[in-house]
Amino acid sequence: MTPSTTPALRPELVTRPRAVEQLVTGQATSDGDGVKLTRVLTQPLQRRLDPFLMLDAFGTDNPDDYIGGFPDHPHRGFETVSYMLAGRMRHRDSAGNEGLLQQGGVQWMTAGRGVIHSELPEQEEGSMEGFQLWLNLGAKDKMRAPWYRDIQSAEIPEFTTPEGVTVRAIAGASHGVAGAMQRETTQPLYLDLHMAAGASFTQTLPPAFNAFVYVYRGEIRIGDKQVPQQRMAILKNGEDNDGVVLRADSPARVLLIAGRPLREPIAQYGPFVMNTQEEIFQAINDFREGRLATAE
Ligand code: CO
Repeated sequence: MTPSTTPALRPELVTRPRAVEQLVTGQATSDGDGVKLTRVLTQPLQRRLDPFLMLDAFGTDNPDDYIGGFPDHPHRGFETVSYMLAGRMRHRDSAGNEGLLQQGGVQWMTAGRGVIHSELPEQEEGSMEGFQLWLNLGAKDKMRAPWYRDIQSAEIPEFTTPEGVTVRAIAGASHGVAGAMQRETTQPLYLDLHMAAGASFTQTLPPAFNAFVYVYRGEIRIGDKQVPQQRMAILKNGEDNDGVVLRADSPARVLLIAGRPLREPIAQYGPFVMNTQEEIFQAINDFREGRLATAE
C-alpha cells in the first residue's frame, strides 16, 4: 500500500437543480431523562421524507440539559444514526455490546427485531452537540438480527472540493468518494458540509429520492431561497431535477440527507416503527414479556 493521497474527485454535474419546497423550524422538546433537544423531522413529515422518520438536533453547554441521557429504552423496525459533533456518549445494549461515541464519530445501529439500550453522556461538563437520525427499514428487514457499528471520526472519509467545501461522507457517495456506510434498500446519502465563505456545493440526486438540508451554523442559499440557521429545507422532487446546488455567502455548516423512499405503510408507536398496527401490538407485547431483544 502506498500512503493515502487525496482521491481524485469526480465533479457532480447538475444542470437542473431542485428548488426548496418548504422550510421547517424544529420543535423544542425533551426526551430520555430530560435531555433538551430540537426535533427537526417530526412525525407529520415521515411520509414526505420517507425513508427518514426523525431527526433530532441537540446542542448545549449546560450539563443540566443533557446529563440524564437516554436510560434503557427499546427500538424495533428501523435504524438509528447518531452523529456527535462535540462531547462523548456511551452506549450499552441488552446483548452486552458497549461502545463510546466521541467527537466527530457516528454510531450506526440497526435495531431490527429489537434492541434495548442506553445512551449516556460520559462527561459532567462541557458542550454536547450532535444529531440522531432515524432511518426506516423495509418490511423484509424489520425483523432482521440487530447490528451496530461504531465509526470513529478518523474512519469517516473527508475531502475538500475545489469550490471550498469540506465534506464528511457519513453514508452514500459524493464526488466519487464512498461514505463510511452504504445501505442497499434505502441508499441513504448523509453528508456533513463545512462551507467556506463564497463556496458552492453541487450534488447529484435521483429525482425520486427524498432529500433535505439542515443548516446548523450560518445560513445558505438554495436557488433564490435563503435557508437560515436551524432550519430544515425540504427539497422538491421535480421529475427533471438532477440534483441540488447549495451556496454560502459566509461560512456555514450543513447536513445534506437523501434516500430512496420505501413507499410502505408506516405504523409508529414511540420507539417501534413497523408496517401495521398488529405488528406494533406484537412489539409492545414482546417488550412487556421480555422477548423484544432476545434471540428468536
Ligand atoms: Co436509542
